[in-house]
Amino acid sequence: MCGIVGAVARRDIVPVLTEGLRRLEYRGYDSCGVAVLQYGVPRRVRSVERVANLAEQVDHAGLSGTIGVAHTRWATHGAPVTGNAHPIFSCGEIVLVHNGIIENHEALRKELKTFGYAFDSETDTEVIAHLIHHMRKQDPTRDLLVAVRRSLRRLRGAYAIAVFAKSDPNLVIGARAGSPLVVGLTDRGNYLASDPMALAGTADRFVYLEEGDVAVLTCDGVKIVDCGGEAVRREVQTQRASHHTTELGPFRHYMQKEIFEQPSVLADATERVQTLTPTLFGANAPHVFKEVDSLLILACGTSYYSALTAKYWFESIARLPTQVEVASEYRYRESVVNPRTLVVVVSQSGETADTLAALRHAQQLGHRHTLAICNVAHSSMMRQTDLQYQTGAGPEIGVASTKAFTTQLVALFLLAATFAQARGVADAARQAQWLEQLHHLPAALNGVLALEPQIIRWAEAFAHYEHALFLGRGMHYPIALEGALKLKEISYVHAEAYPAGELKHGPLAIVTNEMPVVTIVPNDALIEKLKSNMQEVRARGGLLYVFADEDAPLDDDDGVNVIRLPAHDGPLSPILHVVPLQLLAYHTACVRGTDVDKPRNLAKSVTVE
Ligand code: G6P
Repeated sequence: MCGIVGAVARRDIVPVLTEGLRRLEYRGYDSCGVAVLQYGVPRRVRSVERVANLAEQVDHAGLSGTIGVAHTRWATHGAPVTGNAHPIFSCGEIVLVHNGIIENHEALRKELKTFGYAFDSETDTEVIAHLIHHMRKQDPTRDLLVAVRRSLRRLRGAYAIAVFAKSDPNLVIGARAGSPLVVGLTDRGNYLASDPMALAGTADRFVYLEEGDVAVLTCDGVKIVDCGGEAVRREVQTQRASHHTTELGPFRHYMQKEIFEQPSVLADATERVQTLTPTLFGANAPHVFKEVDSLLILACGTSYYSALTAKYWFESIARLPTQVEVASEYRYRESVVNPRTLVVVVSQSGETADTLAALRHAQQLGHRHTLAICNVAHSSMMRQTDLQYQTGAGPEIGVASTKAFTTQLVALFLLAATFAQARGVADAARQAQWLEQLHHLPAALNGVLALEPQIIRWAEAFAHYEHALFLGRGMHYPIALEGALKLKEISYVHAEAYPAGELKHGPLAIVTNEMPVVTIVPNDALIEKLKSNMQEVRARGGLLYVFADEDAPLDDDDGVNVIRLPAHDGPLSPILHVVPLQLLAYHTACVRGTDVDKPRNLAKSVTVE
């Protein structure tokens, strides 16, 4: 999704801006641009191609300067064409980049037209640039900060902005409400970014702006005012943004690299846990756990599927009533508040607009207990909850989530096991068994990854289909949902998932000898039921692609393709069964020649509604 970089320094900042955009590429975008103040004149280059192409154009144009802003745009208002790419100018004076959506942009556009402003783009962003220009004209002091603050008061919606003005050659202003923005501090200049990863190698001291904050950056310092206009001090966090994130190593794509990183990230995530204790989730957790009698989990996309899987764990092993809801639905419906519910937000980025809004909605409704399960330590969700757990997947670049998903599952399993311990529903032997199963996960995952050659052979056949069904039962049903999501996200094959028992209530009508049906067959209590569902598919000529546990009692049958996973029972089975589905989606996409890491129309971090 959209990304921002801004800079003011005692050096040419163009390399920092283009490198910053390159580091933000993984978030997904469809156009990009850079603007600087060069010899007192705002100059910009914009492109609907990749950042590498923009960087070449920037070189060619000889862009350089000591203040500037840059942007990757993921189109919402207006097509992804150069004219809509940021930076956006107003009257050759104001230069602005924006993440988010301005909901009242139509009314503002009308109003600004009456003041004589002409619009060059179809973006909602252009109203902000003109508004700042207009406010500045009205103010005898011509103070850019005053103009920005007055303009922001007129906006409804979500934004993070970075702006500079032709007549203020020494400062860049950043502001946020609803979209993240961080200030990077160095001795030779100061920077803005929507994600600290953009500033890796440039800054390692960061200030995370709070809701409503406006920051004025000069070479020598940063002044921050809060939404009431009061000067505030925000904590400076030292954090080395990792370099290795952009190194692909021997892999063809980041997604493949991240699939294969799962044993090591899961080893890190599980080895640090030697006993089950509520403090894993924050200092206040022992107190909160005592008060909680149910869970409400809010999430989007892949994170939603990890939560759906975990519902089975919470209810079966912790005996805790659990509701899981898509964040964009929860935030807009009337719900009943139980003050003893723990609201859990699950999010790789910790910035997803709908999940963040759902969290705030829950808090406004009176939910007192909140927990964030996120991969990004200082993300908005981690800062807005009383309990936190960092999943530790490391940076995930591929838009389609893989290692972030499995580390979320580990975190959620730990939460369920810890609740079981705290609620006295699991004895010491059971707890020890869970920990042993968790510690064995990396080795078990290596066994699953060794199946890649067989999965590649399936993918070659799979790539020719336009539709696929995924079936699972019990806690493997959400894994079927995740498998179908992976396939459609990156290979563009239309895929749907059903609980296998639902087959006869509709989807069977589309099963023919052209329809591949991927079935997840763990050797658990539901296997006989699942075998009956597979027969229903075979009887209609459907093509079964079965991922079964090694010891699952299946007969060899014509037309049934089976890949056996190393034997594994117990509650962690979903974490193993999702991995072959990730590989199937990945290799199908490779055969179809899609842009695996940056699938069309999708973004890694969806910071707009
Ligand atoms: C986007 C990404 C998905 C992700 C979802 C939720 O749609 O493409 O991979 O699952 O957002 O993101 P979050 O950061 O909240 O987990």
